[in-house]
Amino acid sequence: MREVTATVLENKRIADEIYSLTFATEEEIRVRPGQFVMVGVGGFPLRRPIAVCKAEGDRVTVCYRLKGAGTRTLARDYRMGEKLSVLMPLGNGFYVKENEKKIAVVGGGVGIFPLISAIREYSKNRQVYAYMGFRNRAAVCMEYDMTRGEKLVIATDDGSAGFHGTSVQAFMQDVDMVCPDVVLACGPTPMLRALKVAMKGRVIPVYVSLEERMGCGIGACLVCVCEKTDGAHARVCKDGPVFDVRDVVL
Ligand SMILES: Cc1cc2nc3c(=O)[nH]c(=O)nc-3n(C[C@H](O)[C@H](O)[C@H](O)COP(=O)(O)OP(=O)(O)OC[C@H]3O[C@@H](n4cnc5c(N)ncnc54)[C@H](O)[C@@H]3O)c2cc1C
Ligand code: FES
Repeated sequence: MREVTATVLENKRIADEIYSLTFATEEEIRVRPGQFVMVGVGGFPLRRPIAVCKAEGDRVTVCYRLKGAGTRTLARDYRMGEKLSVLMPLGNGFYVKENEKKIAVVGGGVGIFPLISAIREYSKNRQVYAYMGFRNRAAVCMEYDMTRGEKLVIATDDGSAGFHGTSVQAFMQDVDMVCPDVVLACGPTPMLRALKVAMKGRVIPVYVSLEERMGCGIGACLVCVCEKTDGAHARVCKDGPVFDVRDVVL
């Protein structure tokens, strides 16, 4: 992990309340799918955690939804050429074994963004089946980047685009046909919980990327602690954000 002074190349709206921010680092920094960055926003003492969506050479793209004052300031004040202080890369990221050749990715809301980096990386030499959930058609974005795999199913809560329902429901309709070797998931906790329940009793490993409020992002403050099924605790920023679904309480 290092602190980087990045230069904003682009920061644009790509869907309803969603922005895509691309910045250049001083040199190439290797990032695993599922890792994240902590972005410093002027006027806020705490950095904001955002997953890496794309990392190519010295260019990194993250996508964020407008939520509170931090993300709204980021969207408003950071134009091309602005400097941005970023801690990166952070967290463990997804890990796919050599023999896991068929991967299903199941995402919802802002959880689709780290999965885009997984699709980009793993579709190079594996079959990737993607199930991505959005609120409605206006929220759908990054479609081009999600189509690199074997199959892409867009799901919307209101049925205004693609499958009418959640990405978990769309995936469970396909699971016996696809028979993935591993499932990678990211999204709101109720979505991950639904996936855990639906996959119970199957032998397919499921890895989930958790989202917790964060302070430092580097394992020091314990703001992001989550509960494990064995009664222990883990720091989402340092021990995660990716966990075996069987190991965490959702
Ligand atoms: C590992 C990880 C990856 C993430 N990746 C993305 C992503 O790719 N795209 C995206 O839109 N969002 C992502 N988030 C959520 C994002 O961090 C929050 O939406 C953002 O920090 C909100 O900041 P704010 O100032 O706009 O909101 P406020 O609610 O005003 O934030 C107040 C404080 O709470 C923290 N906070 C608020 N909500 C969250 C949250 N859900 N998770 C963590 N901290 C939070 C903020 O960082 C800040 O310190 C991710 C969170 C984590 C933990
Ligand atoms: S955010 Fe500080 S320990 Fe995880």
